[in-house]
Amino acid sequence: MAGAKGKFITLEGIDGAGKSTHHAWLVDELLQRGKSVVQTREPGGTPLGEKLRELLLHEAMHLETEALLMFAARREHLAQVIEPALARGDWVVCDRFTDASYAYQCGGRGLAWEKLQVLERWVHPDLAPDLTLLFDVPLDVAQARITAAAREADRFELEKTEFHARVRAAYHMRAAAEPLRIQLIDGSQSIAEIKNKLEETIATFCI
Ligand code: ADP
Ligand code: TYD
Repeated sequence: MAGAKGKFITLEGIDGAGKSTHHAWLVDELLQRGKSVVQTREPGGTPLGEKLRELLLHEAMHLETEALLMFAARREHLAQVIEPALARGDWVVCDRFTDASYAYQCGGRGLAWEKLQVLERWVHPDLAPDLTLLFDVPLDVAQARITAAAREADRFELEKTEFHARVRAAYHMRAAAEPLRIQLIDGSQSIAEIKNKLEETIATFCI
């Protein structure tokens, strides 16, 4: 469609909240609606970003190094994937973005919000997601799912319950500050119930 503009949708939530489960469904739904879709993730999404992801998920480091590497990967991702896709008019569905940095690096690790704001303004001063789906589940539900999935835990998943509680609280603060952009999804419902809710949200968003 001439003049159609792409949209930037991000998926957020604590580990085990259900982002990956609904990512593929969301992409299919947008494709069925005739959108051209690019699906990607952070940290990662480019060859360099995936190398940085390996370090970020498995190598111990200072909390500021962690924040800087997250944004280094993000800068590359924006330049190579996200910005060109949106410029073409594609829709971008991204598993995690800068809300995750506020939640994990500030909420979880204790990095000052002001320092993260500096990085955000540097790396993407004029870009924010059009829609963020925040999957919200109690910590015990998320932990039980991760355990049942029996996947190898990364550095973040290995953190204590208090860390994940702070991450979840920071996500809630972000959602309260930007209720129009950030849609809170009750991730403790069944997968079918969540799909119904997402269908409604996407139908409204695509109008
Ligand atoms: P995330 O990507 O947010 O870390 P996943 O989508 O990988 O989480 O989900 C973690 C595990 O929980 C997976 O094994 C998935 O099948 C399961 N799961 C996800 N959503 C639900 C749900 N609503 N009800 C039950 N199990 C779920
Ligand atoms: P994710 O891809 O969701 O992990 P998984 O594939 O195991 O579901 O994210 C990897 C981890 O990176 C996750 O624990 C959160 C963390 N993370 C940050 O700490 N800050 C960030 O800015 C991003 C994008 C991710």
